[in-house]
Formats: sequence, C-alpha cells, structure tokens
Amino acid sequence: MEKLLEEKRQGEVLETKVVVKNDKKLFIESFGCAMNFSDSEIVASILSKNGYNTTTTIEDAELILINTCSIRDKAEQTVRKRLQKYNSLKKNNPKMKVGVLGCMAERLKHKFLEEEKIVDLVVGPDAYKDLPNLLEEVDSGKDAINVILSTEETYGDITPVRLNSNGVSAFISITRGCDNMCTFCVVPFTRGRERSRDPQSIVDELNDLAGKGFKEITLLGQNVDSYLWYGGGLKKDFNKASEIQKASSIDFAKLLEICAITQPKIRIRFSTSNPQDMSLDVIKLMAKHNNICNHIHLPVQSGSNSILKAMNRQHTREEYISLIKSIKKLIPDCTISHDMIVGFPNETDKDHKDTMSLMNEVVYSFGYMYKYSERPGTLAERKLEDNIEEEVKKQRLQEIVDLQQIHSLKRTKEFLNKKVEVLIERQSKKSEKHWAGKTEHNKVVVFPKENYKIGDFVNVMTMDCTSATLIGKAIEFSKNN
Ligand code: SAH
Ligand code: F3S
Repeated sequence: MEKLLEEKRQGEVLETKVVVKNDKKLFIESFGCAMNFSDSEIVASILSKNGYNTTTTIEDAELILINTCSIRDKAEQTVRKRLQKYNSLKKNNPKMKVGVLGCMAERLKHKFLEEEKIVDLVVGPDAYKDLPNLLEEVDSGKDAINVILSTEETYGDITPVRLNSNGVSAFISITRGCDNMCTFCVVPFTRGRERSRDPQSIVDELNDLAGKGFKEITLLGQNVDSYLWYGGGLKKDFNKASEIQKASSIDFAKLLEICAITQPKIRIRFSTSNPQDMSLDVIKLMAKHNNICNHIHLPVQSGSNSILKAMNRQHTREEYISLIKSIKKLIPDCTISHDMIVGFPNETDKDHKDTMSLMNEVVYSFGYMYKYSERPGTLAERKLEDNIEEEVKKQRLQEIVDLQQIHSLKRTKEFLNKKVEVLIERQSKKSEKHWAGKTEHNKVVVFPKENYKIGDFVNVMTMDCTSATLIGKAIEFSKNN
C-alpha cells in the first residue's frame, strides 16, 4: 500500500480497468494524494449510472476526466503537460470532451477555462454529483463549471466503482476537507472545511468490500484523528450540537474500534494522522486489536520549533517526541513514517539541523520529503517571503533524503531473519516469478510465488533486504486466511 501511495503521490497515472455495459466511454486518470484516487472511484460510480463505461484506451474515450493535485507547483505542471497530450488527441477526435476535477479545478475555477482552451468542464471536489448535469451543458455547447464547496457532502451514499483494483486492498474515505490551516498548505482552500462521514455508511462499505474478498482497507482523510460524527455537519460546529448528539457522537477511536470488531479478519490502516489530534485512545486501540496495523504515518514537517510555529502546526517538537514515546510504550514494534518540508521561509541552517536531529532521534521507517513550494492564497504566501534559495532547498532535501535512506535500511534490517506475515498484493515489479506484499508494519516483502496467490496471507522467512524491501521465502499460509 505504501509503495502504491508513494507512486500516487509522485503523480503516477492511474488507468481504469472496469467494464460496465454502458455505451459512452470514459477515461479517468488521477494525480496526487490517495483521496484523489478514492474520489475518482466515486466519480466513476456517479457516471456509470449515466451511461459511461470506463476505458483504458485513451484514444477511444468520448470523455476524459483528469483528477488534479495542487499541493506543489510541480504537481500542477504535471497536469498542464498532460492537458497538452489531450489537446493533440482532441484534434483527431473533435467529439472528445475534457473535464478537470479536483484541487486545481477548485483553485483555478474559471481561469482554467480561459487558460486551457481544450477544457470543457471544471468540477471541484464537492460537486461530483452535479457531473451529469454539467455534461448536459457541455453537450449543448456550453462550458460548464461547478466549484461550490459544501459543508455536508461526504459521498457517503455512493458505492465507489473500484478502479485499477488488485481486489485485495481498498481505500474508504471517512472525512473530507481540513480545518488545520497549516500556513504552507492549499488543501483547506481546495477541499473546504472538515466534515465526517456517517459511520454506518463506512461500516456498510467495509462489509461490502469484505464480501467481495478484499483483505485490507485504509481509512482515509486529510486528518483522520479528527473524525467526529454527531449526525452530520462541519466539525467546527460540534459545539452547537444538542446534548443528545454530543452524547452519542463517534470519534476516530470509536470508529476504528467499530471497524476492527466488525471485520476482525480485515487488516485496517489509516492515513493521515496529525500529531496534534492523535489521541492515546487510538494508540491503545491499535495495541488491543490485532487487525489494526502497527504502522502510523505521522507527518511532522520540521524539527524546529520556530518553523513549526510559523507553519501553524499546533504542537512543538517536544510534544511530538512525547507522542512517539507513548506510541512506542504501548506498541513497541510500531513503525513510524513522516512527511518533511525543507526550505520553508526563513529556515536557517540551525532549523535544518533541528530537522536532522529529530530524524536521528526518531529513526523513521520511511518518509516523504519535499522542498517547500509556495502556494497562492496560503497564509505563508501572503505573509512570508519564499526566501530560501533553490540551491539551498535542493541541498537540504538531499541531506534529509540521504539520512532517511540510512534510517530506512536500519529499520528494515530489524525485520531480517524473522518470520513475518505478508498479504500478497501483486507481482513483483522486478520478477514475474515473485510476489510482492506487505507486512502490517508496511514493509514490502518479495518472495518466490510457489503455489500462493494474490490475496493470501503468508508467513515468510526474511533472508535479505534493501533499504525499502525485504526478500524472503514463504513458509506456510498464516492462520489469518
Ligand atoms: N493531511 C494530508 C497532508 C496533505 S499534503 C494528508 O493526508 O497527507 C501531503 C504532504 O505534502 C504534507 O504533509 C506536506 O509534507 C507536503 N506539502 C503540503 N504543502 C506543501 C507545500 N506547499 N510545499 C511542499 N510540501 C507541501
Ligand atoms: Fe494541509 Fe495541514 Fe490539513 S498539511 S491537509 S492543512 S493538516
């Protein structure tokens, strides 16, 4: 899963593989975070009821939808390049329509239609149910746009059409939007305020996936620990809820427990946690339930208190370390990964050294590391100068990437010469004779296929490793099958 996420974050193209008996052909591709990939499955579901069948052959498509990411400038440039490709396709097929979905649609709104002449429709993340109407407008020769952000929409009533699925692991989105307002981040502007999805619809989706043979789910949100259901509405309005609503509300720890108990054989992951919102209850639950995977993605962004403050992260370095200590105390084998940004405005050499020292203190299993990219409209863009030279950003990034490489190897080696339980997800990219899967700790393991198949839980003896991958040999089916 993590590899998949990593690829997705790097903007890898997803092509759909679902065939429904409909006559119009839709090609949909997604860039950016896991939430976008999950949203594309909702879009495919909405359009399947309107005569659209997904295709993997872009040339055949009557409708191309691109689900976009705005998180860094580079992500937006990738999308722009992709639109150029569509432009040449459209010349050969004038009936072809092109729609832009997701965060860039929300950020650029009408500007998209002006700047990119090939775009026929622009739809923000909360307006996908309006797609059938918007397509009618396009058919009648108009440009169509809906970028209204909602306070309620969670798409809880839509059963996603699983795209590009291995039939083993799936995402279930549990919250939309984010209220955290980290000063560098465009997400609160493109995805709106935070709201949680009806837990019953989450459990229904979980049961549906289990019935279809899925073995692992990831509960998704920008900030999962802040999940709060009190009958609908924005998280920030919870104080206005009635006493009855408050008493019967469900927080993330409760939701996690419900999921873990409802499907004890399904592996449960969640992403992403924000250190300021992660509660001890969640950690205790992870320790209590075997099917909740012992891995936490816990982005920190910087090891310097002054940078954390300027980023509006609501915790200090010391509080973060103390959270990690609590995790390790309750779940000694828990693996921890991170997101880190270098080159935030005014970041000094000392701040950068603080980041390196935090990494040395935690020794993360892996991490996603980025150069700061100024995003229009964010507080950092309005109030702070993007004043760290590109060369310095590059060098700092290289330094933390190199350090992470050492830490990843160290952490992976801890699983060497051990029996680990692996859920087989796919064929190894390097050899058709090997399977690849993951341990609950999110470690990728590769081993000879023998008679095992995708979706099996297998005990594997590990014998060798790189920094990111364990190599081993299957011993037996694990008792989890
Ligand atoms: N809570 C979200 C975070 C979304 S953004 C989640 O579900 O993952 C993912 C990561 O991108 C952030 O943790 C941060 O490290 C990075 N990021 C966000 N805005 C950025 C920016 N302006 N420049 C560089 N990196 C950024
Ligand atoms: Fe962005 Fe911070 Fe939310 S990184 S998604 S504003 S938790």
